[in-house]
Parts: sequence; structure tokens; C-alpha cells
Amino acid sequence: MNNTLTNILILGSGGREHALVWKIKQSRHATKVYVAPGNAGTALVATNVPIDVTDFVQIRHFCIENEIQMVVVGPEVPLVEGISDFFQNDLMLKHIAVIGPSQQGAMLEGSKAYAKAFMMRHDIPTARYLAVTSDNLQEGIDFLGQLDAPYVLKADGLAAGKGVVILPQLADAKLELQAMLDGKFGKASKEVVIEEFLDGIEVSVFVLTDGSSYQVLPSAKDYKRIGVGDTGPNTGGMGAVSPVVFADKDFMGKVKTRIIQPTIDGLKKDAIDYKGFIFIGLMNVKGDPFVIEYNVRLGDPETECILPRIKSDFVELLKSCAYSQLNTYSLETDERYAVTVMLVSEGYPGDYPKGRMISGLDNVNDCIIFHAGTSFDIEKEKPKTNGGRVIAVTALDYILEDARVTAQVNAARIAYEGRYFRSDIGLDLVNYKPL
Ligand code: AMP
Ligand code: GLY
Repeated sequence: MNNTLTNILILGSGGREHALVWKIKQSRHATKVYVAPGNAGTALVATNVPIDVTDFVQIRHFCIENEIQMVVVGPEVPLVEGISDFFQNDLMLKHIAVIGPSQQGAMLEGSKAYAKAFMMRHDIPTARYLAVTSDNLQEGIDFLGQLDAPYVLKADGLAAGKGVVILPQLADAKLELQAMLDGKFGKASKEVVIEEFLDGIEVSVFVLTDGSSYQVLPSAKDYKRIGVGDTGPNTGGMGAVSPVVFADKDFMGKVKTRIIQPTIDGLKKDAIDYKGFIFIGLMNVKGDPFVIEYNVRLGDPETECILPRIKSDFVELLKSCAYSQLNTYSLETDERYAVTVMLVSEGYPGDYPKGRMISGLDNVNDCIIFHAGTSFDIEKEKPKTNGGRVIAVTALDYILEDARVTAQVNAARIAYEGRYFRSDIGLDLVNYKPL
């Protein structure tokens, strides 16, 4: 069953999806590969289809017409809107393997209050918290008063990565709580999770589960802030490094026994249908892992960093997930370091221009280029910018510093007006000294 050829549809249009297409195209099992809607990079290796990731009716039509056997869901929104259940409940689509959890499983990302309650129920280490609505506002204010600064407030629902606010002053935190409940993030902040601040170093752990067993994929560190030295506003991610030096055997052992296994067991106990990726945002607090958040998909730009480190045939891996055979799967990884540098548009993460012509892509050596926010200019026959995050450049090397330098040098070879990238991705890990 695992050796049949497969027509695959990937949903999404970012660097993560270009990396997925790149990896899937290397599989001997992939026959035709489509991306909806894709970008200028995915068009070079697969067929782009102009369908929105939440247009389930069009996706259904396309899958039937093109005899799709597997759908890999990149972003969280279609999962939270129930795309897996949509396929499962349709006689014409039921046979198609969807890599992505059920709507209930996607709640682990779609509702922070749900995720926290899940962690409490299954004894998974996480920060102390209280879920607040306008009905228990006073309780929320009292809870803030019991915590030490800084104060962490999270919009319950999806807020395009912007729903977490961390404030140093109690008075500001109280005002922010009120503003969030009053609709600062629209419906997403009608409920707010107040959390104890965890002081430590973050690491992203990626798991693929078939609902009963799992494989741990390479871990990564994401660089969220726009500025060098982790300064300025949060972004979707300015770069990544894999593996993460402090996520060593000992730490990952704790992650497996205290977090991953209880999470998978919790899904089973709660009868949640889950075949897909779990991206666990962890804080390493003095050597002990705590969950900051669950995401029900792969990370971006972490995917551009971890997929080049997977040697195994990716479609075989995904099929093992679809057919509940992950318990017998053996994942092969590349021991080299990967460093990913993200090139962004000027102004990002605020407003930014689009449509700037991109040059220099052919000058890149010893790196893999993944397109993120790009589109193809038909008249000029060149790619142009079409988003805040534009291109990811990934370098691999046995020596972290060498991978870092190669990624930097090549990022500088790609040009467009207003190009910006962080020059210090991975530098902290090169200099990392355990406590
Ligand atoms: P998110 O938008 O959910 O990825 O969260 C944004 C960032 O907020 C995380 O990557 C962490 O750096 C930080 N964060 C979230 N929760 C906590 C916490 N309880 N303690 C410390 N930092 C946190
Ligand atoms: N890089 C963080 C995310 O994909 O959510």
C-alpha cells in the first residue's frame, strides 16, 4: 500500500509550502504534485492551482477531477475550519489521505483556552493560567495581581500570530485585558488566557502522529523579532536553526516522556481524531520543558530549515501516517546543521510594498532557495515580491558557523528594493554556553 504512486495536493502559499513541495517532489512515490494557490517558487517545481485554501467546494471539485490521493494542509486556517472532517464526511473524498487533524484536534491551535484545558487534563507541564471572559473579568484582574511581572495575555482564537501581548507593568496588563475583551483582536479575544511568564530559551519541536504512535522530526529554533539581537516587533519568523544545541538527548528525553507521549495519549483518551503534524512551542526553563503553545501544522520558517535535514522519502513518511504505520517507521535525518535566513520587505511586519522585481536568484551557491511571498510577473518574466516575508535561504554544513555564513552570504546575493534580513540568525547558538 505504501508503494503506490500518488497524486498530491498541497494547500498554502508560503515558504513552508515551497519546502513541502521541494521535499515531496524528491519522492519516488509522487506522481503529480499540485499547490493551491502556491507562489512563484512552487510554480517552478509543481503545478499551481488558483484556489483559496478555505474554498472547500473548489478543493473538492479539483481533487475529484484530478484523482488526488493525498492532501497536505500547510496553514492552520483550513484545519480550524474543518477541512479534514469535510473530506471524511464526503463519499467522494473519504478515500483521500488528509495530512492534518480533525476540527476538534485543530482546536489545540484554534483555542488557547482549549489547549490549556487539554494540558491540565493530561498533566502536561505548562505555565499557570486563567481563562477570562467579560463574565469573570474581576477574577482575571485578581489573578494578574497574584503573578509576577511581566504579564502574558493571549487572545483565545487565531489572530494571525499577533494575539500574544507581554507587558512589564501590572496597570498596563489590566488595561490590555479590558481592551482585548472589548474586541482588540475581534472575536479572537472575546476570551483571553492570562499566563505566568516562563523565563527560558525557546525551542520548536515537530511531531508527526497517526493518532496512536508518532515520529519526532528535527527540532528548530525560530527567530521571531524583526531586529538584530532579538529586538523590535514580533514577525512570523525571520530565520531558523536546526538542530538546537540545548535540545540534547537528555532534554529531548524529558520532552518525549513529559510532553509528547502524554499529548498523544491525551488525544486518544479524548477520542480526538488526529493524523498530522503537531508543532510544540516549548520553553526550556533550567533544563525542564514547558509547553508555550501547540500548533497543528508545521512552522514557517522552521519547515524550510528542518525538511532539508530529513533524508527519508517524505511521501513514504506521510503515507505511514495516513495508514497508521508510524510505529514501524524509521526516520533518517542528516546530521548537518541547517540555517535559514528569511528575506523580507521593507516595513514588515507593518505595512509593506508589493510588486518589487527580484534578481540575483541565479547567483546563489550551496544553498536552497524557498519562495515565500512571491508571484511571477508575466510581462517581465521575473518573480516579484508579493508579501512581507519574501524568500528563505537555507544552508547546510557540519559546522554551524559555516552554515550561518553561507546562508548570510547568499541572502545578500538576492536583490530587490527594500530587501531586509537579519544578520545574526544562529549567532547565539554558535556562542551558546550551557548554564
Ligand atoms: P505565539 O504568538 O503564541 O507564538 O507567542 C509569541 C511568543 O510569546 C512566544 O514565542 C514566546 O516567546 C512568548 N510567550 C508566550 N507565552 C509565554 C509565557 N508563558 N512565558 C514567556 N513567554 C511567552
Ligand atoms: N514560526 C512560527 C510559526 O510558524 O508559527
